[in-house]
Amino acid sequence: MTKMIKIFDTTLRDGEQSPGCSMNLKEKIEMAKQLERMKVDVIEAGFAISSPGDFHSVKTIAETIKDCTVASLARTTEQDIDRAWEALSGAVSPRIHTFIATSPIHMEYKLLMTPEEVYERSVAMVKHAKRYCSDIEWSAEDATRSEPEFLARVIEGVIKAGATTINLPDTVGYTTPDEYYAFLMKVQELAPSMVNITLSSHCHNDLGLAVANSLAAIKAGAGQIECTINGIGERAGNAAMEEIIMALHTRKDSLQADTRVVTTEIVRSSNLLSRITGVKVQPNKAIVGENAFAHESGIHQHGVMKNRETYEIMTPESVGLTQNNLVLGKHSGKHAFRDKVKNLGYELTETEIDRMFQKFKELADKKKSVYDRDIEALISKEAVQVPK
Ligand code: KIV
Ligand code: ZN
Repeated sequence: MTKMIKIFDTTLRDGEQSPGCSMNLKEKIEMAKQLERMKVDVIEAGFAISSPGDFHSVKTIAETIKDCTVASLARTTEQDIDRAWEALSGAVSPRIHTFIATSPIHMEYKLLMTPEEVYERSVAMVKHAKRYCSDIEWSAEDATRSEPEFLARVIEGVIKAGATTINLPDTVGYTTPDEYYAFLMKVQELAPSMVNITLSSHCHNDLGLAVANSLAAIKAGAGQIECTINGIGERAGNAAMEEIIMALHTRKDSLQADTRVVTTEIVRSSNLLSRITGVKVQPNKAIVGENAFAHESGIHQHGVMKNRETYEIMTPESVGLTQNNLVLGKHSGKHAFRDKVKNLGYELTETEIDRMFQKFKELADKKKSVYDRDIEALISKEAVQVPK
């Protein structure tokens, strides 16, 4: 049976923490509306207490968005939680997301707290948040470097206090898929109350493993994945939402999991974020990179023209592209060239095609990619024929 995984988008909170990705109120609302159109399950709209601007955007998004849960981040302090609730109270489906670090290194050097204090603070603050709303997420920052036995004890405490989602992040992007899987299984074994709540995963990409680790979490029973559009986020970023969604969508039979996300909105969301932040995605980025559906070599182009499944495991249309992108270059073959010329509106004889193909190869040797405008220039220079 296919399990439906909740997509928790943190583009507007963790994503915004990445250098060069800050957004103003208008841009955040535009992005939130697109996320709603895309049907993510949860939008983390910001960290209400962090600044008046963040408070205002969480509040406006909470009052605007109707079809997604809207969350605000809060540390485990009364002040943070009160401010988060002040911003969220107008939401149709509000969630308070409170967090504290549980690893020895974070507790000792950053929090200056003993494990016992972290336990007590967590339980007390989940109880405090529960007075405001029923949907409470508790996150153990740096969970993957925490002691499973201690973590399990805190988890049992916060579930009893009312937490409905338990998030176990790989905050520093250190874990590996097998290790994360084993860790999550162990924690669930040690904290039996977790069968009654949603387990969430939140992975950072320092070793380029955030998506693989998120998929391992699903295998270990996670029902929610936290991620960002284009994988933006602290340092090397967060797990890329489009990659997780399309991995589940394309391999749902073997992974036995899928999401409710409208996949055809993926490219639009990615482009909108790039336009707003001015941060472009690399051309070879999976799913949304400019070359993700481009076939350059002659053999590949020929194959795709005969049957797209030869080299395409998903269609460009499924992520919202209207057609695949045959970029011509020096490895392109005559089939692709003929096809391109035809799509540009030219009707050439086979002799003309042969001659133009020769010219095209000479040009491709000098230029990395040959664009439509180059081919049009070639054809008109040779005065072969005018377009229909
Ligand atoms: O990476 C992390 O641990 C976080 C938490 C605040 C959820 O972003
Ligand atoms: Zn994070």
